[in-house]
Amino acid sequence: MDNLDQIVSEAKAAFAAISDPDALEQVKARFLGKSGQITELLKGLGKLPPEEKKTAGAAINVAKTAVETALNERREAIRKAALEARLAEEALDVTLPGRAEVRGGLHPVTRTLERIESLFGSIGFEVADGPEIEEDFFNFTALNTPEDHPARSMHDTFYLQNPDGTLADKVLLRTHTSPIQARYMQAHVAKFAHLERMPEIRIIAPGRVYRVDSDATHSPMFHQVEGLWVGENVSFADLKGVIADFLKSFFETDDLTVRFRPSFFPFTEPSAEIDVAFMSGALKGRWLEIAGCGMVHPNVLKIAGIDPEKYTGFAFGFGPDRLTMLRYGVNDLRLFFEGDLRFLRQFA
Ligand code: PHE
Repeated sequence: MDNLDQIVSEAKAAFAAISDPDALEQVKARFLGKSGQITELLKGLGKLPPEEKKTAGAAINVAKTAVETALNERREAIRKAALEARLAEEALDVTLPGRAEVRGGLHPVTRTLERIESLFGSIGFEVADGPEIEEDFFNFTALNTPEDHPARSMHDTFYLQNPDGTLADKVLLRTHTSPIQARYMQAHVAKFAHLERMPEIRIIAPGRVYRVDSDATHSPMFHQVEGLWVGENVSFADLKGVIADFLKSFFETDDLTVRFRPSFFPFTEPSAEIDVAFMSGALKGRWLEIAGCGMVHPNVLKIAGIDPEKYTGFAFGFGPDRLTMLRYGVNDLRLFFEGDLRFLRQFA
């Protein structure tokens, strides 16, 4: 039957021309579907005389098998080609250089804060913390700076606004870390109210502080580290010893002198500025102001509920940004807060 051979070769040609699996199934219908050419021939068998039926049927089945085989082969070929295309597309070029892992580093000021914490930790100071959005009471009043006290104008304070633009009642960005002293003492007193003798307070409190100020040596946000030691018989001599030892450890040299220059803070009496001078190196002989300090004012102890007749203490507030500048020889404070990686990478 010429017709059958023709159908088979037509089917083969049609399959070969297709490379899309869905299109292939469509074309299959033309030959093997409900009214496909082969199916029609099989349907026509019934009309043939019985003696022809057998040979014709066998021939049609041979052709049907041939078409099915061709179809399966094409299906397989298309599947393989698709797989190969995908493999080629997803191929890994193992000769490409690897992507290096990016490693961060600690910010130089963070390094200083950690260093201060660990040096003071070694002489029994605990790390304390407080909020950056602070109440007027803790930032000023509890530190012996009542409302309308002229010392409030020493700080150019950022006050917070309500959503309607009016000034929020007594809420501000803390201008120093000293409110942590006030908070800590108050909590300490409450915690140990049941004891005859209050345990000593020895804390170090690093944190961000804010003032309306900006130039090469001032940033509106900067860091302070507060220190507080309250107990029986804590004296100014202890303050001097602790500070001098700390500075020598921090700068890893005995080649420096510390000077306590009389000053004023509402929350300490007497008060002093701490200056340091290096005896050698680039900064040799220059006095550099690095902290404020003093004996905790009796009023501050009283407000916290501590009896100033029984307990005394000293407090200090360091500028760790300044310490970092001195330690690494950086001359512009703003570099620390601009986030320029060319600068920061040098400390990583
Ligand atoms: N809080 C003071 C300031 O910001 C520094 C200070 C802290 C002074 C503790 C005395 C005692 O200037």
